Formats: sequence, structure tokens, C-alpha cells
Amino acid sequence: MKEADISLTTPLDQAKVTTGKATYELKCQSCHRLTAEKLVGPGWLDVTKRREPLWIMNMITNVDMMLEKDPEAQKTTGTMYG
Ligand code: HEC
Repeated sequence: MKEADISLTTPLDQAKVTTGKATYELKCQSCHRLTAEKLVGPGWLDVTKRREPLWIMNMITNVDMMLEKDPEAQKTTGTMYG
């Protein structure tokens, strides 16, 4: 995924918000809260200040490439992705 593949709008596209929320509830909620609280994974509060949108998207959709090339990705435990 490239920078150009990501379109973030203000306000956010509500259709995407709805799909994203459903995906979160299905696949991510077991390990992540939307607050700072840590479960298995870190809470997502302020995650967009710690990480670039492109980084987040690639960690979700393209993790093998990230673990191979990205120094920040290599610092993670890989728990989420293994
Ligand atoms: C099995 C538990 C688990 C599930 C399910 C999971 N994650 Fe994670 N996630 C983690 C862990 C653990 C980390 C910390 C990085 C590491 O050690 O691999 C993490 C890290 C992250 C980070 C980086 C946070 C930061 O502060 O740097 C993002 C973004 C993320 N996950 C998104 C998601 C999304 C989106 C989903 C659902 C599609 C998801 N995760 C599902 C366990 C999980």
C-alpha cells in the first residue's frame, strides 16, 4: 500500500467509519481497546499521533513486508501478526 492509496477526509467518510467499526468489533476488540488501556495489545488512544496512517495500514494489510523492511515494525513482538 502506498501513501496515495489512503484517503482520509475531514469529516471522515461515514460509510468507512461504519465498516471499520464492524471490523474492529469482529477482529480487533479482543486485544485492543479504544482507550489507553492495555489488553493483549496497546490501547489505541492517540495511536494516530504515534504512527502514520500508512504505517498502520501496512501493518494490518502487508505485515510480512513490514517485518522484513521496517525498523519500527521489527521492534514489535509480532504477537499480533504471527
Ligand atoms: C491476538 C491479539 C491481537 C489482535 C486480535 C489484534 N492485535 Fe493489534 N496488536 C497486538 C499486540 C500484542 C500489539 C503490540 C505490537 C506487538 O507486540 O506485536 C499490537 C499492535 C497494534 C498496532 C500498533 C499500536 C501502536 O501503538 O504502535 C495497531 C495499529 C494494531 N495493533 C491494529 C490492530 C487492528 C486494526 C486489528 C484488527 C484488524 C488488531 N490490531 C488485532 C495484538 C492484537
